[in-house]
Amino acid sequence: MFHPDGPTLFELARQALTSVERGYDLLAPKFDRTPYRTPDALLAAVAAQVGPPGSVRDALDVCCGTGAAARSLRPLCRERVVGLDLSAGMLDEARRRHGHDPGDAAMEFVKGDALALPFDADFDLATSFGAFGHIEARDEGRLVAGIARALRPGGRFVFVTGDAPPLWSPRVLRARAFNAAMRVRNAVWQPPFVMFYLTFLLPRARVLLEAAGLRVEVRRGVLPAPYERYALVIAHKPG
Ligand SMILES: C[S@@+](CC[C@H](N)C(=O)[O-])C[C@H]1O[C@@H](n2cnc3c(N)ncnc32)[C@H](O)[C@@H]1O
Repeated sequence: MFHPDGPTLFELARQALTSVERGYDLLAPKFDRTPYRTPDALLAAVAAQVGPPGSVRDALDVCCGTGAAARSLRPLCRERVVGLDLSAGMLDEARRRHGHDPGDAAMEFVKGDALALPFDADFDLATSFGAFGHIEARDEGRLVAGIARALRPGGRFVFVTGDAPPLWSPRVLRARAFNAAMRVRNAVWQPPFVMFYLTFLLPRARVLLEAAGLRVEVRRGVLPAPYERYALVIAHKPG
């Protein structure tokens, strides 16, 4: 569909009829040939904003998928990069693909739920890419609280998001139609497949981050085309 070797429409539909975890298990071998995988150009721009090589001790990538961001974070880190994801299939791909990435930090890919992060002041840096749509709005506060807890004092949570578009713009109407269809799907079909558009945008994300005690810095104009309309958010845990 997206790429000659990517998933077909039929495969995507079958995945959407399972759970998020099972759906990504099925998609994993072809995931890197879909547009859902965060592009390296965006990841490199974010890494450049975080700091020079070796400036971070330990980093956590939440919802790491096949490890794209973990790879870009490795040269920044001195000790370890941990990727956490719900899907064993995605984690297997991450381990298979990222044995020889540039950098010396240890790389670990662990199975876990972003809403129940098992970390406490273990990281200087946390990131998450392309996954906020899998978190229900009512759970976003829990996600942020878990990430804030995972950071050491002085640590940063770094991610890319957009500004909420005008309420009646075509983008919002399309997203609302999709989100409504997903709610109907989840009401009539179990297990649910949590996937919604236009979530965790500014200014709501700022409110949630500040409620978790983080100081929010928003950098604009630092991402390359075609991502220049997105904002880089750096949420600082007080040192
Ligand atoms: C669109 S993929 C993005 C993967 C990767 N971050 C990237 O940008 O290429 C979303 C990932 O989030 C994971 N995911 C969704 N909900 C999750 C949760 N509650 N806890 C952990 N991982 C989750 C999925 O398994 C999937 O690997």
